Amino acid sequence: MTENSQPLKPGEKILFTVAGVFVVFAIIAFTIMQFVIAKSDKPIFEQKTHASLSAEGQKGSELFRVKGCTTCHRALRNGTNMGQTADLDGVGSRRTMEWMYAFLLEPEKNYGSETMDHRAGQRSAAYVALMPKEDLHAIAVFLSELKSDQGSSSAPMPPKGDSPFIDSMVKTWAPKSWHEKYTDIRDKQPQDAGGAAE
Ligand code: HEC
Repeated sequence: MTENSQPLKPGEKILFTVAGVFVVFAIIAFTIMQFVIAKSDKPIFEQKTHASLSAEGQKGSELFRVKGCTTCHRALRNGTNMGQTADLDGVGSRRTMEWMYAFLLEPEKNYGSETMDHRAGQRSAAYVALMPKEDLHAIAVFLSELKSDQGSSSAPMPPKGDSPFIDSMVKTWAPKSWHEKYTDIRDKQPQDAGGAAE
C-alpha cells in the first residue's frame, strides 16, 4: 500500500463483494451447463408420454397431421400447443377411444360443457365432425394410443408415493366443501407396488 491509497469504504466493500459473488455464481452455472448438462445423455426432462401405434392408429396419426388438427393441437411433437386441451399427448390415459370417437362425431353432445371450436357453425374446427366416419375412427384410435405415465402432467394420477407437497397444496387450496363433494383421486385407486406404504 502506498501513502495516498485510500481504504475502501464499507459500502464499497459490500458492493464489490456482492458483484463478485454474482460473477462467481455465473461462472459456476455456465461451467455446469456447458460441461455437465450439455455433455450428459440424460434428457433434462424425463419423457413421460409415449405411444405404440397400431395399424389404424398409424393411419389416424397421418390424418391428424394432414387434416389440420395440428393447427390447434399437438401430439407426438407435431403441431402447436395453444392451451390446456390442445396438447393431446397422453390423452389416451384420460379418455377412452369410445369417448374420443363420440366427441369427434358430435362434439357438443359429448363434451360435457359448451365447446369453443368444435361446435357446428362458423367455428374453425366445425369441419372435424363432417369428416368421413372411418377417418374419425382412425383418429380416435390414434389418440387413444397416446399414453402418459403416472405422474406426468397429462396423467390423471399424481406421481407414486407420498407427496408432502401435494398434501399441503390440497390442505391449503381445496375448500372444505370439496372434501364432501369429491373423492381424492389418490384414495380411489390403490397405488402400485413400490408406491406409498399405507
Ligand atoms: C381451430 C382449432 C382446432 C382445430 C383445427 C381442431 N381442434 Fe380439437 N379442440 C380444439 C378446442 C378449442 C378444443 C376444446 C373443446 C372446444 O372448445 O371446442 C378441442 C378439443 C378436442 C378434443 C377433446 C380433448 C379433451 O380431452 O377434452 C379432441 C379429441 C380433439 N379436439 C381432436 C381434434 C382433431 C382430431 C382435430 C382434427 C381433425 C381437431 N381436434 C381440430 C380446437 C381445435
